Amino acid sequence: MTKRVFSGIQPTGNLHLGNYLGAIRNWVRWQDEAPCIFSVVDLHAITVRQNPAELRAQTREMAAAILAAGVDPAKAVLFNQSAVRAHAELCWVLNCVARIGWLNRMTQFKEKAGKDREGASVGLYVYPVLQAADILVYLATHVPVGEDQKQHIELARDIAQKFNNDYETELFVLPEPVITGPATRVMSLRDGTKKMSKSDPSDMSRINLTDTADDIVSKIKKAKTDPEVLPESVEGLEGRPEAQNLVGIYAALAETTPQAVLAEFAGKGFGVFKPALAELTVSRLAPIATRFRELLADPAYVDSVLREGAEKADAIARPVLDKVYDTVGFLRP
Ligand code: AMP
Ligand code: TRP
Repeated sequence: MTKRVFSGIQPTGNLHLGNYLGAIRNWVRWQDEAPCIFSVVDLHAITVRQNPAELRAQTREMAAAILAAGVDPAKAVLFNQSAVRAHAELCWVLNCVARIGWLNRMTQFKEKAGKDREGASVGLYVYPVLQAADILVYLATHVPVGEDQKQHIELARDIAQKFNNDYETELFVLPEPVITGPATRVMSLRDGTKKMSKSDPSDMSRINLTDTADDIVSKIKKAKTDPEVLPESVEGLEGRPEAQNLVGIYAALAETTPQAVLAEFAGKGFGVFKPALAELTVSRLAPIATRFRELLADPAYVDSVLREGAEKADAIARPVLDKVYDTVGFLRP
């Protein structure tokens, strides 16, 4: 089967190191391997309340950040989700395939809805069904994501399988999650047991792609650690979530393994390791930040990329949606 890659990211908040290492950097790698479709998922964003003007601005900013990180519109399709109507349309059909019991098991809904489940939007509840539609409408085979999205991709497979069974068809392809690299789960700099997240109230917990070199140095300097020196092997990092996280980040940025990082820093304390990590981080992120600022100054260019991307995406999605409509028995007069 020919490969096709789809992935998405919400336009809420700035891109941080977790998104970059866990997701976007892998997108950049995939674009040379297979046809790729990447989306800024604004339909998903409104599952929680958004300010309209901010949503528009952040959608453009996220697209600029993705381009700055190296996604090349000459190789990959990049668009914002709402510009391709097929996502919402397929989502409706899939809402009628997915089971309530399946959605009740989704851990991200439980986290995001918190204590006030009754007050959460219905959209937040069916969020994973829309995500399934995103993937299935392109018949994507591979979905590069961070560890936290594994459950949603498995749900997309279940939905695809049930549709195929119910309608006795082989229309949908079962997508595979691709979770690779040493940093599929980058943790908060303040608490090694919590993932780095754009929704963390403390900006010190994350490194943003927009941070200056000074910000990065100071955040790494103040990152939570323990008083021990670095061990000789990765087993020695067990029970030391903060140390494990920083070593993982170093390995990911240096494109090596945590073991190789420890070979270099074993026996050294954080007084030595942190400045090395800060320097590496600044050197890797600085070119991206520079390009990001250039793109922000040229919104017309970013919009033109998104417009052309939406046209290309639509050309792939529309015929699939038409087949779905025929399959479920919609009259097309
Ligand atoms: P989100 O920011 O939740 O829209 O996620 C966008 C992409 O980044 C998804 O593929 C996530 O799995 C990935 N991601 C988000 N936070 C992290 C993190 N702390 N570590 C690794 N990947 C992450
Ligand atoms: N839910 C994903 C996240 O939180 C974003 C997303 C939406 C996505 N649709 C997708 C990721 C389709 C992969 C494939 O990051």
